[in-house]
Amino acid sequence: MSQLSSASTALLRTCARQQPATVARSALAAAQQQRGAANAGAKASFESPFGSTAEESGATLKIPSFKKYMSKSSPSSNKVFSYFVAGTMGLGSAIGAKATVHDFLTNMSASADVLAQAKVEIALDAIPEGKNVIIKWRGKPVFIRHRTAEEIQEANDTDWKSLRDPQPDEDRVQKPEWLIMLGVCTHLGCVPIGEAGDFGGWFCPCHGSHYDISGRIRKGPAPLNLEVPAYNFPSEESLVIG
Ligand code: FES
Repeated sequence: MSQLSSASTALLRTCARQQPATVARSALAAAQQQRGAANAGAKASFESPFGSTAEESGATLKIPSFKKYMSKSSPSSNKVFSYFVAGTMGLGSAIGAKATVHDFLTNMSASADVLAQAKVEIALDAIPEGKNVIIKWRGKPVFIRHRTAEEIQEANDTDWKSLRDPQPDEDRVQKPEWLIMLGVCTHLGCVPIGEAGDFGGWFCPCHGSHYDISGRIRKGPAPLNLEVPAYNFPSEESLVIG
């Protein structure tokens, strides 16, 4: 009798251990059946290019149909419209770019008053021999010296190769009697005084630079000769600077 009751107890324990696994398997099977039914009911309205079969693509992806937004016109008329829109936009962009560049260049170019000062004409017969005239050109003073024969001789007799900024007089003038230079000291930009200094030319009082009768630096801190601007003689009696 006691053996019978131990066998029953062991049988009951075995059943109790196996029951949860059986219940879990049943629940899993039911869930799979439900999912299958749902998949069968949900059909994609678009055949996905990512699935190998319609069922497979429909089971994982739903893409709406855009057919109602597609053009009803023929492909050729669609191309004509596209070309027209692209061409119009290109033309508009080109016109806008041209206007922008034109405005930019117009603003950057010199104004009328600046252009008027680009060249200055001087009547030479109004300057007597042995005299200096100072004119304003592009905001800077320009020295015009009507040199005498003695001054020309003195400028040519100087040993220019030994000067700080070696330059022969003939390289600084187009006509020996007319010396034209910017009146700006090459040291720090002061305006030198004419007919002054140790060499009978120009003297800069700011720091004591002496220039000779050809405008070459002879003494003092200035490193270079006075600059010669661009000029020409359109006639015997006139000079154009610039
Ligand atoms: S600026 Fe002329 S000597 Fe200094």
